[in-house]
Amino acid sequence: MPRRQPLEHETLQPWTGALPPRAWQESDAVRVLLNDNWKFRLSATAAVSDAFAASTFDDKSWDKIPVPSHWNLQDGKYGLPAYQNIKFPFPVDAPYVPAENPTGDYRYEFDLGSWSKEGSTVLRFDGVESWCKVWLNGVLLGTSSGSRLPVEFDITKTLAPHNVLAVRVHQWSAATYIEDQDQWWLPGIFRDVTVIHRPVGSVKDHFVHQSYDHVSGAGTLKVDCDPAGRVLVPELGIDMATGESITLPVEPWSAEVPRLYEGELVTSGERVPLKIGFRTVVIEDKVIKVNGRRVLFRGVNRHEFHPDHGRALDNETMLADVLLMKRHNINAVRTSHYPPHPHFLDLCDLYGLWVVDEGDMESHGFELCTPKWNNNPIDDPDWEAALVNRTERMVERDKNHPSIVIWSLGNEAGMGCNIGAMTQWIRDRDTSRPIHYERDLETKYVDIYSEMYLDHQAVEAIGKDIETDRADLKVSQRHRDAPYFLCEYAHAMGNGPGGLTEYMELFEKHPRTQGGFVWEWIDHGMPKRENGQTYYAYGGDFGEEIHDANFCCDGLVFPDRKPSPGLIEYAKVIEPVVITSEAEGKITIRNRNDFADLSAYSFTWRLETGGKVVAEGKLEVPHVAAGETVTVPVPSAQPAADASEESFWVVSATLAKPTLWADAGHEVAWGQFAAAKAVAVSATSTGTSPIVTEDKITLGPATFSPNGTLLSIGDLAVTDGAQLQVYRAETDNDWRYDERFVDLTPGGAWRREGFNRLHHEPEAVEVTEDAVVVSTRVAAASHDRTLATTYRWTAGPHGLRLDLTVDPEGDWSGLVLPRLGVTLGLPKSLANVEWYGAGPGEAYPDTCRAAKVGKYALSIDDMQTPYVFPQENGSRMDVRWAHVTGSDGSGLSVRGEGGVFALTARRWTTEQLYAARHTIDLVPGPNVWLDLDVGHNGVGTLACGPGVLPQHQLLPKHTEFSVVFKSIP
Ligand code: GAL
Repeated sequence: MPRRQPLEHETLQPWTGALPPRAWQESDAVRVLLNDNWKFRLSATAAVSDAFAASTFDDKSWDKIPVPSHWNLQDGKYGLPAYQNIKFPFPVDAPYVPAENPTGDYRYEFDLGSWSKEGSTVLRFDGVESWCKVWLNGVLLGTSSGSRLPVEFDITKTLAPHNVLAVRVHQWSAATYIEDQDQWWLPGIFRDVTVIHRPVGSVKDHFVHQSYDHVSGAGTLKVDCDPAGRVLVPELGIDMATGESITLPVEPWSAEVPRLYEGELVTSGERVPLKIGFRTVVIEDKVIKVNGRRVLFRGVNRHEFHPDHGRALDNETMLADVLLMKRHNINAVRTSHYPPHPHFLDLCDLYGLWVVDEGDMESHGFELCTPKWNNNPIDDPDWEAALVNRTERMVERDKNHPSIVIWSLGNEAGMGCNIGAMTQWIRDRDTSRPIHYERDLETKYVDIYSEMYLDHQAVEAIGKDIETDRADLKVSQRHRDAPYFLCEYAHAMGNGPGGLTEYMELFEKHPRTQGGFVWEWIDHGMPKRENGQTYYAYGGDFGEEIHDANFCCDGLVFPDRKPSPGLIEYAKVIEPVVITSEAEGKITIRNRNDFADLSAYSFTWRLETGGKVVAEGKLEVPHVAAGETVTVPVPSAQPAADASEESFWVVSATLAKPTLWADAGHEVAWGQFAAAKAVAVSATSTGTSPIVTEDKITLGPATFSPNGTLLSIGDLAVTDGAQLQVYRAETDNDWRYDERFVDLTPGGAWRREGFNRLHHEPEAVEVTEDAVVVSTRVAAASHDRTLATTYRWTAGPHGLRLDLTVDPEGDWSGLVLPRLGVTLGLPKSLANVEWYGAGPGEAYPDTCRAAKVGKYALSIDDMQTPYVFPQENGSRMDVRWAHVTGSDGSGLSVRGEGGVFALTARRWTTEQLYAARHTIDLVPGPNVWLDLDVGHNGVGTLACGPGVLPQHQLLPKHTEFSVVFKSIP
């Protein structure tokens, strides 16, 4: 069928009428920010008259909208947001887009007063999604695509004392096909709009070349500028011409010590402040080195996101991100998957974060075409100019940031000739930074191998240089010589990510595996209100025809930027100092920094017995260079010899002085190790004889039904007797993404196995001299595999003791259990939990590094982690004892016998937790549910990446578990 001519916004031309791209810069040139409320009209289609561009157009009937903002985040007034990961929301027919194309027309009138007639004036847009056409005073300035890239128009001739700016924005354009990132579709003018005076002799563009020779300790500075001018750096005594180069002793810039020198570029027409950071990035021996040293990226992927404002971020939000990252030991950011607001990069320079600056390119939806990647723009020469234009605009805008150590072309756009063209463009312009593009798996064009989500084994193979060819990867010499990092790993969706520790071990062991970037920084949950309650919504909650549900909620921080347990765990796993005790009486202190010694930190110790500090002091630590380890003796304090509780040393490294990003005293690392075991208390909970009557069995403080169901302990009614359970409400990482999103109520393996609907068939109730022994066969309907379970109840001075024995019978091969333990239903008056064990946060076998043994107290409500998509959460590990009490202090005490247990307390059942889709679905019921578990399966990152490592899997096997209950009057 003959095709129609593409419309203007469907052409592959990236822009028209735009000025050449240049470095983003502050300066003394006059500028006026046009951020304000603008007149706005939304049309459902692209085919609407553009008469509004005329200055005389009457826009009285139009509404107003803030600029910058996204029009579909205005309380539903102008459409709703939509979320898809890979899929395009319309038929794939590049470069055509639907006629039903939300089109926003903007008008803004402004006076510039006595604006200088001298020189020229430009109008800059820092980000418009996805395509715009701009008129000033009725005169067409041009068009532009490249949503997260700037465009400047020369408005010298069109500028008047009173101005009418008119902008048309289409949500969909040809460019949409190369902006298919995994995020909400959010159209509009979402970054700043500025009018900037360009005096005669002002800087057209400048390029700061700032390098460091780690052997001589000298930095070299050269600033290229058009037109020529002078470069002043008073602190270094530099006053030289642009284009000249100077080499002199300096302090280098690194993410750890972000030493910036303030300077100025002066031309006859303008003064531009310079922030100079001396650093040199090279690839040597398969390793990315900065200033001569291997760096280990303890990174994170950051999308720009704010729950109310989408990608229209203010400076406070950007700063909040940087502060949170620095305070959680993160040292690197991949700006997934587009160049961020330039201010964010200023912050990275100043606060110290290694940046992988990524181009605005993703055509992932073509992977779903037939055949896969059919018509992918990335492999079509017709798209070359549009794609290279994106690379050029990123590099030109951001080239002067010392924090940017790697250029990335974009994400998940398959492979093709245009990757070669984009890479070559950078090589011709900037040789100071290596180039990254993850899908160039064989490093045909780029410098770095960075395949995402590889499992530990695969990373180890890379580290050991024993990779082998695969269908999509030929291990050539060029590939083997490339450094490796995981540009995405550890999918932080919901509860998780698990397995971070083992990755970090590999990164530290093998120089070629240089760390990774957790996917991702923030949950993209959008607030919604229902019945007076606010919750975070995700894909599908706004009526999308197709969507990817909560796959956008996979961050280390919740939508409101509160740290999730995943962030706390990551901070611990990557901490800059590792404090352990590897030999009796010795504390080992390993400096994991790549550059800095430990002089920025103070070390303190404390000795804790039963969670109480019994002695504390300062720990003297000698000079420890980056990468070095020292050993110091443990302090002379001793735990009480007769302590009935365990004692631990806790050694903490805190900031000795305030920094830009945290106060003095901020803890960056800690270690905990045993000082003394508890003197075993003889816990005889036996000796009392059961009394059997017609309707019950009494055993010490407890009563049971005739069939052996626990009914009460002292005054405390047990509304649902202690029963074996093995199911947990699947975490996002207990499923595979593709299995999960077919339907939100799928039959995952555990539910298929019926773990959530076990039948407890009584086998025997035996009342002996001193025990009630209940034998049951626990199995799911339609399955013949069984957990033969015996509950042996005894009572004595220490309380009511349960010895649980579980033996799997039948074929359990290939199965892991979600958890294994007993669940008790208790009165809802119980409200608080105090425990001695790991805490304060939740912990699972592969997410437990941040949990420290101590005495903690939290309300049951505060023990819940508010994952945007409700799921298993809140389990406290390694609990020795716990008290669950009501406001009057009465309740239940549980003590592990001969071992620790995991504890979860909730106001809803596991099945209700499973069925909930949003936090507001979790409604307190008539009980408090207590899970006391021998163990949990690990968490892993199966949502996207490897599942649980074998050592953290809970396999069905003979299990014994003992706890002692006591009612607290
Ligand atoms: C990657 C992709 C990210 C995100 C992630 C899963 O494949 O690059 O943008 O979709 O998977 O959350």
